[in-house]
Amino acid sequence: MNALWVAPVMPDYESARETFSWRRERSRLAGLPDGGINIGYEAVDRHLREGHGEHVALRCVARDGSVRTVTFAQLAAESSRFAHVLETLGVERGERVFTLLGRRSELYATVLGTLRAGRVLCPLFTAFGPEPVALRLELGSARALVTTRELYERKVAPVRSRLPHLRYVLLLDPGADPPSDTLSFPALTAAAPDTYTVGPTDPAEPALLHFTSGTTGTPKGAIHAHEAVLAHHVTAAYALDLHEGDVFWCTADPGWVTGMSYGIIAPLTHGVTTVVDEGDFAPARWYGILADHHVTVWYTAPTALRMLMRAAPRTGDPTPTARHDLSALRFVASVGEPLNPEAVRWGQESLGLPVHDTWWQTETGAIMIANFAADPVRPGSMGRPLPGVEAAVLACGEDGRASIIGGHVRILQEPGAQGELALQAGWPSMFRGYLHEPNRYEACFADGWYLTGDLVSRDADGWYWFVGRADDVIKSAGHLIGPFEVESALMEHPAVAEAGVIGRPDPLVGAIVKAFVLPRPEYPPDAELRRDVMAFARRRLGPAVAPREIEFVEDLPHTRSGKVMRRLLRARELGLPEGDVSTLETPEPARTAGPSGKEP
Ligand code: WT7
Repeated sequence: MNALWVAPVMPDYESARETFSWRRERSRLAGLPDGGINIGYEAVDRHLREGHGEHVALRCVARDGSVRTVTFAQLAAESSRFAHVLETLGVERGERVFTLLGRRSELYATVLGTLRAGRVLCPLFTAFGPEPVALRLELGSARALVTTRELYERKVAPVRSRLPHLRYVLLLDPGADPPSDTLSFPALTAAAPDTYTVGPTDPAEPALLHFTSGTTGTPKGAIHAHEAVLAHHVTAAYALDLHEGDVFWCTADPGWVTGMSYGIIAPLTHGVTTVVDEGDFAPARWYGILADHHVTVWYTAPTALRMLMRAAPRTGDPTPTARHDLSALRFVASVGEPLNPEAVRWGQESLGLPVHDTWWQTETGAIMIANFAADPVRPGSMGRPLPGVEAAVLACGEDGRASIIGGHVRILQEPGAQGELALQAGWPSMFRGYLHEPNRYEACFADGWYLTGDLVSRDADGWYWFVGRADDVIKSAGHLIGPFEVESALMEHPAVAEAGVIGRPDPLVGAIVKAFVLPRPEYPPDAELRRDVMAFARRRLGPAVAPREIEFVEDLPHTRSGKVMRRLLRARELGLPEGDVSTLETPEPARTAGPSGKEP
């Protein structure tokens, strides 16, 4: 079938870079008949208009392995019904529709129906507890929420009274005697018409809201516009090598940006078949999906690859890969956290293919740097900027962030120099704001550059190498966790006077959340209290965000402005030199040993 438009398949990186222009790519995008661009239209309607409605869009693999296919025509019908439901309920254009759903076909109908109707979609992660869910629904003034009965009862019902904006909760499985103040998704959609005409959509109109975590303050709601679809589409061609006829599997959870940009949008705009795994990670299940569904392009994450590496001995042994026929697999890519060279080599040995690292962020909306499909992989490197993406390494100040002097940044040209990664503002999937926080948005830009918060170096050939985060945000199993959100929840516990939260490096998931807790004097810091605080945090925050380790301390280091110095906690935890402590409230006597007695 025809792709959205024919992506120029470039022989190599250099010629792609030379000939690429977003403007020209834009002119090739189908666009709405009445002008403008709408993500949902490019993902669904266009394929019907071109007579490809019978092509399989989704292969949904249930937990028991049974498969249900959904064609583009069916996806159009299901999303049309949902678009009508939104209109009938009175959800206005631009208002926000949230999902709290795992991977399943109704998620696709909801997302595409929302986008086609010009409402704004915001996905939430199902492993969030009631607190992060409530906070995001609140910050995003959610008008409607689509979820399951179980998730509703566990995570939303307890906080519903805090959410006056939330008028409509649609349950996929309301069952008998549904909770009050909820609606039935199946009943409403069944009663709605199955065709919907996408109205004029300005390319700059908001389409998606993705919450991401910062060092301080509330989660940031990154807003993306409809024209982002151009970047989703182009980058999937260049960085994921997506072609007509592919069977694509993106393992990312739909609660995060990867699950949206590449789990839903990009493969649909390309008209390829997407595997939707409704089950959980298990090595045998995953190899089975790759083999049984003849997956050709696979987009996954370092934590998942490391889990497979642990499960599978290396070549020469009777490995799971030997028991499954992976001959259809043509391209493997990874995202979200540093991809260790061992994982790249393991891919080559066990899957028969190297793993191509890709780098991007919630804010960039689409892949910005990648081991380009046409280049040989450099293990350990994130790759090179995609065509149309201008990147630079900026000189940093003492705080570890790019130094801005008189409004200007300094670009480091010498190979190997470390600094903050910056991107020339202006690609189509660039976030258009942080919801309600214009100042926080502006602070991300300087001198025409978007500052990423990542520290990198670039080698003499222009390949980028990840060094670390410039801030205190924690990356665990590929998910960003804001230490402030965790600290705030811990401090709700009556025994906790104060808390400082860091990421402790972990060989499997990158980092685990560790909390240093200062208990109130009347509470003895014993094992029972630790268990209690831990359980409290898990209930509120959910398993993906709650600390995995709690250490009671007698005091916490503070800056003069009163903030807990997480950098110092981290340095002590790792037995590293403590660095510049000049902003300490009460400079401590120089230490000779780390917390565990290790020499720093
Ligand atoms: C942060 C963004 C990318 C979409 C999903 C995550 C880290 C991302 C890599 C990589 C090393 C990486 C960075 C980045 N990160 N890709 N290939 N190598 N680190 O989006 O949750 O906004 O996280 O993930 O620190 O800033 P996100």
